[in-house]
Amino acid sequence: MHRVCAHRDITDQREKIIPLARGKVLEIGIGSGLNLPFYNPKSVTGLWGIDPSRMLMDMIPGSPVRMPFPVHLMAGSGEQIPLDPHTADTVVVTYTLCSIPDIQQALAEMRRVLKPSGRLIFCEHGRAPDRGISRWQDRLTPLWKPISGGCHLNRPIPDLIRENGFAIQKMDAGYVSPIRISGFHYRGFAVTR
Ligand SMILES: C[S@@+](CC[C@H](N)C(=O)[O-])C[C@H]1O[C@@H](n2cnc3c(N)ncnc32)[C@H](O)[C@@H]1O
Repeated sequence: MHRVCAHRDITDQREKIIPLARGKVLEIGIGSGLNLPFYNPKSVTGLWGIDPSRMLMDMIPGSPVRMPFPVHLMAGSGEQIPLDPHTADTVVVTYTLCSIPDIQQALAEMRRVLKPSGRLIFCEHGRAPDRGISRWQDRLTPLWKPISGGCHLNRPIPDLIRENGFAIQKMDAGYVSPIRISGFHYRGFAVTR
């Protein structure tokens, strides 16, 4: 998972969106910390990272993680975030909404912990607009999920974000990889409604 997520095509997406994070940041599904190099230390005052996989978080270099701002890692899930309401200025989620089992509950939790002035920053692969590709995404997801840590190829990411209390303010979408089945990515930010 670490190697796939470290691919150049994906790193290019991280470089474009992660520097927008501001203030107290919560990263959902921080995994092996591949976004860490792209946080702007002039804008970020602290980072919480949450992930159910201790194994992936143990791959983050340094212990404690060395960044120019405090970093606090938590073992847990996006469906149950151990933070008070309205504590984060930014919630970041990258390549994780595809594999969270209860995505509605996780988005409700992200909404709960975001300050009213805060932003949800997302960068995810998801359902392709082309019928030919999305049909294959639907067919392959049941086979793909058990071997990929629960990843759905076919989730309609922007619809899910909108249906769960957010308004998308900016989004770019398109194929970023020649592997079309997982290559349609959505990158942008949203605010709470
Ligand atoms: C494909 S990896 C992406 C990791 C990282 N976000 C990145 O961009 O490199 C998916 C991540 O989602 C995490 N994950 C799976 N279920 C989750 C859940 N219920 N809540 C939060 N994270 C979850 C996995 O442990 C894994 O770290």
